[in-house]
Amino acid sequence: MDFFIDTANLDQIKEAEALGILDGVTTNPSLMAKEGITGRNAVLKRYVDICEMVNGPVSAEVIATDYAGMIKEGTELAELHDNIVVKVPMIPDGIKAIRTFTEQGIPTNCTLVFSAGQALLAAKAGATFVSPFIGRIDDSNWDGIELIEQIVEVYANYGFETQILAASIRNPLHIVRCAEAGADVATCPLSSIMGLFKHPLTDIGLEKFLADYKKVEG
Ligand code: G3P
Repeated sequence: MDFFIDTANLDQIKEAEALGILDGVTTNPSLMAKEGITGRNAVLKRYVDICEMVNGPVSAEVIATDYAGMIKEGTELAELHDNIVVKVPMIPDGIKAIRTFTEQGIPTNCTLVFSAGQALLAAKAGATFVSPFIGRIDDSNWDGIELIEQIVEVYANYGFETQILAASIRNPLHIVRCAEAGADVATCPLSSIMGLFKHPLTDIGLEKFLADYKKVEG
C-alpha cells in the first residue's frame, strides 16, 4: 500500500519524506487555508514547492464546479508539474471532466466519495484515484472501512484500474484497517503515520537492550 501525506505543510512533508516511506501528497482547499496561504498565485506556488519535494503524485484540487471551469483550471494545474494529479469533486460535471482529462492523459483523483456507487462512476470515467473519506463516514455513524472493502470488491469484479485512495484517515488503526481491506493508497496526516511506530514493548525492549549493553561494555 502506498503512503501519501494529506497536508499542504512543507515541514510535515519534509519530515515524512525523510522517513523514506512517502509515495505522494494530497491537498485540498481546507488544508491550504490551514497553512494561511492566500491568493491563487500562492496556492500554485505551494503546489510546485510540494512537487519539487516529493517524487510521486501530488493532488491539486479544482475550485470550479462547472465542466468548462474544471477543464480550464485542471489544465492549468496539470501544466504546473509532471507530478500533479487533478483532484475533481464527485458531481456530474466532475465525472464529465474526469472523462475528458482521462482522454487527454491527465491523471485525476475523484474526491468527496462516500458510497460504492460514486466509486463506480469514478472508475467508469477512468479516474486514476478515487478518494473515499473514511473518517467522515465514521463521524456520521457509518463504517468507513466497510466502504473500502465494498469498493475493493466492486473494482475487482470488473478489473477497474482506478486506485482506491483511502482519505480522511484519522488514526494509525485506520491505516492498518485500510491495508487489510486492500486499499491501494492511504493518505494520512503525519500524526497517523507517526502513530504506526508506537508500541510500548518496543520502547521497553530498546531500553533494556541499551541497559544490558552498558553491562557488556563494562
Ligand atoms: O483527504 C481528505 C481529507 O483531507 C479530509 O480529512 O479529516 O477533514 O475528514 P478530514
